[in-house]
Amino acid sequence: MSTVTSAELDLSADGTLLHRGSPDSAWWRSAVIYQIYPRSWADASGDGVGDLPGITAHLPYLRNLGVDAVWLSPFYTSPQADAGYDVADYRDIDPLFGALDDAKTLVSQAHSLGIRVIVDLVPNHSSDEHEWFKAALAAAPGSPERDLYMFREGKGDDGSQPPNNWQSVFGGPAWTRVTEADGTPGQWYLHLFDPKQPDFNWENPAVRAEFESVLRFWLDLGVDGFRVDVAHGLIKEAGLPDWTGAMNMLDLTDLDKQHPPMWDQDGVHEIYRGWRKILDSYNTTGDAANDRAMCAEAWVDPPERAALFVRDDEFHQAFNFDFLQTPWRATDLREVIASSYAANDKVGAPTTWVLSNHDVVRHASRLGLPIGTPRPNGIGADDAQPDAVAGLRRARAATTLMLALPGGAYLYQGEELGLPDHTTMPDAVRQDPTFARTHGKELGRDGCRVPLPWSKDEPAFGFNRTGNAWLPQPTVYGDLAVDQQEGVAGSTLELYRELLRIRKERDLGEGALSVLDEGADVLAARVETRAGTTQVLVNFGAEPVEIPSGATVLVASEPDVDTTLPTDTAVWFTV
Ligand code: GLC
Repeated sequence: MSTVTSAELDLSADGTLLHRGSPDSAWWRSAVIYQIYPRSWADASGDGVGDLPGITAHLPYLRNLGVDAVWLSPFYTSPQADAGYDVADYRDIDPLFGALDDAKTLVSQAHSLGIRVIVDLVPNHSSDEHEWFKAALAAAPGSPERDLYMFREGKGDDGSQPPNNWQSVFGGPAWTRVTEADGTPGQWYLHLFDPKQPDFNWENPAVRAEFESVLRFWLDLGVDGFRVDVAHGLIKEAGLPDWTGAMNMLDLTDLDKQHPPMWDQDGVHEIYRGWRKILDSYNTTGDAANDRAMCAEAWVDPPERAALFVRDDEFHQAFNFDFLQTPWRATDLREVIASSYAANDKVGAPTTWVLSNHDVVRHASRLGLPIGTPRPNGIGADDAQPDAVAGLRRARAATTLMLALPGGAYLYQGEELGLPDHTTMPDAVRQDPTFARTHGKELGRDGCRVPLPWSKDEPAFGFNRTGNAWLPQPTVYGDLAVDQQEGVAGSTLELYRELLRIRKERDLGEGALSVLDEGADVLAARVETRAGTTQVLVNFGAEPVEIPSGATVLVASEPDVDTTLPTDTAVWFTV
């Protein structure tokens, strides 16, 4: 492999303009949003599960990190069958996490620190312990109560076969049969996820009215927006036809053969147009700083379908899962960056970027697997272990690239510490319903959900004062704890702080982006903003790359980058 010299790297070349930038600088177009998984961030009560007072107490950490907003995964009343994505009461807090007053305090404290708060809305399904579902079970087939969910008669003379062949995302059938009031086996209800997560019937106006009211409830409480769970699932194809394609969380984007009847139906868009009107009505001044924003979790393909969710009267943002799933290769990344801008620019929407969240193996682990390995659903002790050193190095470079790209960016708690997944977790402690429903075939998502390490020498690494933790922390988390990295030059935490500080200083979330075609080893991009031109270079090759002479390095993903850029390293510089 040859070294690219500064002479070969012609930074004055025009490159390919992939994105012109937007004249509109609303906050949600460029915000860095930090995902808090409340179960695992900070536990003030000491019961082993994180809580809202824990979050509030640590908000200054996020101000110092330099993020613009937080997104909180669900904290609502819930039996926790799917870690809170099974909601029993959309207007209250589960006692595990605190009370409504704690949410109010959290929101007002965050606001006083200049941090916006986005909450998770779960509209596709409720918990089976939701009052509506309990009433539906108690009521007769054909009743208005049953019509709030997806009840159907079974097939066969005695109705003993499920209404269709759909499988649930977590494994096993997507239908469960109920016992009627007279004790006889009865109708079936649909659950695209766990049996404890019955799907709502979004054709019923009462469901629509209820969720509009829930939106208003949280907007009235002061939140700045919503992350909308499974936004592509609410409407199902009429007649619920059989489907033999993939259903699991990994393959939802691999659906190009035929349109699956349970995902990405056109009917969902009308729902979001209604929601957008509600959000807009809360901006009474018209100043973009008062915009309330919503982000779609929509695992759809191709990017043009995803872009439909972010037309200017629907969502403000949608997660860009294509970027997250792209192998660590310059050509693949260039391609996905290009296609992401092409699709979103067509509808005037910002692109978002994300590398980790609570549903996927953390990027410090994922990128330590052989390049091109399909994204696994969890890594276990019996699996080939990721190369931790290469993984962290690539993760830092990937984040350095991501945070230079115009658009919004999502960070997942703990990635700023370079945390890996817990990749040797004992099966006995796994809690993701996927594990049990697939009989261990899919390990599931527990490895990325482990409680955060705050201080090396305290119980549960400072997650709380008691040492309880709902999932065990791997020993490597001790050396990665916040107190081991704060103020330490070259630490991942200080790298993130530096990246976020310079991103703000140079307006990098906004602006225009061009890429230079530098082949398979180097990704070179130029971001032009009001603050000037920032160059970004990532080296994927085995040989070091020379940084052009005269360049001023702003920040690099590894310490001591000066004139050359080593393998798996990214740099921002000006010339
Ligand atoms: C989303 C959530 C995931 C949850 C699922 C069902 O994909 O991110 O954690 O299990 O929806 O609500």
